[in-house]
Amino acid sequence: MPLLTRRRLLQGGLALSALALGLPLARARAAEPRLLTAGPGEALLLEAGQPETRTWLYDGVSPGPIIRARQGEEVFVRLKNELPQPTTIHWHGIRIDNAMDGVAHLTQEAVPPGGTFDYRFTVPDAGTFWYHPHDRSWEQVARGLYGLLIVEEAGPIAQAFDQDIAIVADDWRLGEDGQIEEASFAHMMDWSHAGRLGNTLTLNGQDQLDIPVTKGERIRLRLCNTCNARILELRIEHPDIWVVAEDGQPVPPRELDDGYIVLSPGERADLIVDMTLARGSTAAITEVSAGQSLLAGQLTYHPANEVQHVAPWPLPPRALPDNPLSTDLDLAGAQAVELLLEGGAMGNMAQATYQGETLAIRELVGKGQVWALNGTAGMTDRPLFTAPRGQTVTVDLRNDTAWPHAMHFHGHHFKVVERNGKPTNSEAWKDTVLLERLESAKIAFVADNPGKWMIHCHMLEHQAAGMTTWFKVEA
Ligand code: C2O
Ligand code: CU
Repeated sequence: MPLLTRRRLLQGGLALSALALGLPLARARAAEPRLLTAGPGEALLLEAGQPETRTWLYDGVSPGPIIRARQGEEVFVRLKNELPQPTTIHWHGIRIDNAMDGVAHLTQEAVPPGGTFDYRFTVPDAGTFWYHPHDRSWEQVARGLYGLLIVEEAGPIAQAFDQDIAIVADDWRLGEDGQIEEASFAHMMDWSHAGRLGNTLTLNGQDQLDIPVTKGERIRLRLCNTCNARILELRIEHPDIWVVAEDGQPVPPRELDDGYIVLSPGERADLIVDMTLARGSTAAITEVSAGQSLLAGQLTYHPANEVQHVAPWPLPPRALPDNPLSTDLDLAGAQAVELLLEGGAMGNMAQATYQGETLAIRELVGKGQVWALNGTAGMTDRPLFTAPRGQTVTVDLRNDTAWPHAMHFHGHHFKVVERNGKPTNSEAWKDTVLLERLESAKIAFVADNPGKWMIHCHMLEHQAAGMTTWFKVEA
């Protein structure tokens, strides 16, 4: 499996990532769309002096521009497709009007090259979300199409932070020439194993991300894993870090152990970090999966300045305000669904149904389909299940494969109520759950958003190779 091997020679000194707060508030209903163009571009992903990489980008930048909105307000984006293939935008984690969910062939027809599409929806939840194509996403995301959608809390909470900083982490698979390795797109080796793993890690599109901080500040860090398939294990080598939201939804603040956090593809975490080290210090941000420690960026303290707050910060930090989710789970009256994950290299799957036909594994491989959910590979005309609106649904996910999977549900957030048959007592409301090999998890949610919603593995090669289905919530 490709490791993140590119050498890190230089540190810091690159462009800043800090986002000033206090942006003008959007109007409640936007009259004019914000144009967002998907097209070819170039980005310097390697050390200074190395070649730029030919990518596909939103508005020519990597990552795409941060789209900010206020909770309860409208987002109005006009996608313009300047790519050589059709595309869509999916707003990952937003409890959205189904017609705006951006899933090609399920909620809309893909936007052809040269075409436009208006996405117009209100954002019910404050938090950290992201957007990416939902048509050939295994290729389009790998080429650089993604960005954050940040929904600001409606109340004054934003003023509780001195800085609000987003970090988008991606692993790119680049050849020796610094260009995206195209020969391996749609490669069965990746599709049947872990997915497309990159060899070059960037934070905010940069080889080394430098985040200037000042002693005494309290900062909000928003992390997002946009890798096609890599489960990131990040370490922020700094004390006093708390997780305050997962997948955009607030959680009771919990201190990070040793600055270590795991994010599977699609997942986000919001952190609060108190700048308690000495002036002039640095704190490394490293990626430590596969036993290596790869320097990806750092927090750099101002050498002289210090921020004095009139009132001391509450410790531990206060929780973020709740979002208006349906959290009232009726587990006793739940509609129970089972979801068996099968297939892949070193798996037990002998056959699966694909486009209405039962095929042996050898024939499935020939069609690029090597994963199945409940014995079926790929999308079907009929949903996996239909729920009346307001119904509590439990899904028992069982991973009968030799690989981990990051299972993502559209249009809803769920609670993981059991892991391997044991109650979790988890307080998080997630849109993506990681299942280790042979692991099981039971999730529960209230099906309160009418429409057609996907369930798929967010390892995008697994999704493309069969690990995808959908459910329906009645109006
Ligand atoms: Cu972020 Cu269906 O995906
Ligand atoms: Cu998977």
